Amino acid sequence: MNIKKIFKTAQAKHLPIFQFNFSDLSQLKGIINGAKKFKKPFILGTSEGESNFLGLNFAVAIKKEVEKELGFPVILNLDHGKSFDHLKKAIDAGYEMVHFDGSSLPIRENIKITKKVASYAKKRGVLVEGELGFLRGTSEIHREMAKIKVKDMTLPREAQLFVKETGVDALAPVFGNIHGIYKKMPSLDLKRLSMIKSRVGKWVFLVLHGGSGIPSSQIKGAVKKGIVKINLNTEIRLAWRKVLEKSLKDNPQEVAPYKLAPQVIKAIEKVIVKKMKLFYKI
Ligand code: 13P
Repeated sequence: MNIKKIFKTAQAKHLPIFQFNFSDLSQLKGIINGAKKFKKPFILGTSEGESNFLGLNFAVAIKKEVEKELGFPVILNLDHGKSFDHLKKAIDAGYEMVHFDGSSLPIRENIKITKKVASYAKKRGVLVEGELGFLRGTSEIHREMAKIKVKDMTLPREAQLFVKETGVDALAPVFGNIHGIYKKMPSLDLKRLSMIKSRVGKWVFLVLHGGSGIPSSQIKGAVKKGIVKINLNTEIRLAWRKVLEKSLKDNPQEVAPYKLAPQVIKAIEKVIVKKMKLFYKI
């Protein structure tokens, strides 16, 4: 599978590749059932926590089976890796893409580790995503209003420096996006995204982190301005939790997980279809 080619096609057609994170079989089945309706390549994402829970080798085996079942490309990405060591393990296990999240580090330190990851990954044909700017929040429901400061956002000229020095294939910038769902979501700064794109768009694929809770019109706007990959986690987690709770409540005597799971799977399938429908026809 030529992943770069898949990304290039997505970029040329302004049709983004979705990354759906998972750590549980019901989530995975919901993702598969949703994505298979569209027959378009997508990414299975696991964060460090999700990958530690699943096991790196197990996640790789799962992705291979999913791809076999669907008959079109499915890419496995290690999302938000916090250390070279974890990403090295993921690459050695068979992940096809890795994301080093050095966003909390000073830029020089971020560049240094991202470059090390990129050099290890590239020799093995693995795609690398870097991150610059301070992307706040975690993939959960937050009770408060989202607070994004301008100083957290990616500076276009720093993005250029970062991309040139690290050699990453993809870049996750911060332009008003945030992980998780908040009482009040911020608006995306599409002007900043355009400026970043004009600096680095020739060399990297731009990634939208924090896909949950962003109004569809803004997601579409971001893709028009150059986003090629969209990450989604909280909306999947939320559907899992809400419907699992209901399913448990509705069936107080039931102890067989597979009998409780169908409603959960259906709810996640709906989340996936709703997102993919923004760009693809069934
Ligand atoms: P959300 O949890 O906001 O969807 O963000 C997911 C993400 O960006 C994973 O990298």
